[in-house]
Amino acid sequence: MNTEALEIEIKTLKEKNKLLEELLAKEQERSLEKDHLINQKSRSASMGEMIENIAHQWRQPLNILALVIQDIYISGQLGTLDADKLEENYSKANNVLQYMSQTIDDFRNFLKESDGIEVFALHDIFQSVEHIMVPSLKINNISITLPQVEEVHIEGNRNEFLQVILNIIKNAQDAILLNKIKKGEIVIGVTQSDSKIVISIEDNAGGIPQEYIDKVFDPYFTTKHKSQGTGIGLYMSKQIIEKNKDSKLYVTNTKEGANFCIEVPAK
Ligand SMILES: Nc1ncnc2c1ncn2[C@@H]1O[C@H](COP(=O)(O)OP(=O)(O)OP(=O)(O)O)[C@@H](O)[C@H]1O
Ligand SMILES: [Mg+2]
Repeated sequence: MNTEALEIEIKTLKEKNKLLEELLAKEQERSLEKDHLINQKSRSASMGEMIENIAHQWRQPLNILALVIQDIYISGQLGTLDADKLEENYSKANNVLQYMSQTIDDFRNFLKESDGIEVFALHDIFQSVEHIMVPSLKINNISITLPQVEEVHIEGNRNEFLQVILNIIKNAQDAILLNKIKKGEIVIGVTQSDSKIVISIEDNAGGIPQEYIDKVFDPYFTTKHKSQGTGIGLYMSKQIIEKNKDSKLYVTNTKEGANFCIEVPAK
């Protein structure tokens, strides 16, 4: 090969190299965009879930308010609206309104951005669960047992952790209602050893069919109608838990239902 031919060869190689580098850069950009998209989708999914939760928790109180107003109106028309009846309806309406306003406060606290890692008491998390989730469980006749965990502490992002617990409880509630379980039960237990804390959330809704138990943590895997599920709840939950060192989220079936376990290092 003469020098001229060699120079041309080197030039084309350099050009090819440049082209490859450009392609690589474009590919990287595209993959970043994809990550961003997934991130945004999961965030709007959780906002959607929140609004769904509020709507869900307000439906029953709104019904009660409608009944109270109807009762006052009809009694007024019939001329049977005495002081007792008025008092009774007044206090009923007042209770309902207080409950509705408490719900908004709970959700507002929950939505406050907190990116920080902190050490928080598990007890605190269950108290929030009590405020946010227990009313809707009660309305659906589902009992929930929360553990006594005065001394248990966890390191991580408190709000994200709460969101995981709420996702799992919401799924259990959905499964109980879907399978028309008469005495729906959710039992949360906590065990602590020297090195780790295990939180288990068990239900009695029949469990997850073996054919897709390996898929429930995949993004967009859902067996629910599209108006009821996006399939992102458990995917997000697993990401939140497992981005922390030595932490795991997994599920097994028991005789009666599903058992979701969160394992985190003891603090
Ligand atoms: N406790 C449970 N019992 C039975 N099946 C469950 C339970 N929890 C989850 N699943 C199954 O796992 C699937 C995925 O759950 P995931 O929370 O990720 O999505 P989803 O609840 O369908 O939708 P969303 O994005 O609104 O949470 C559910 O559709 C359901 O089939
Ligand atoms: Mg879900």
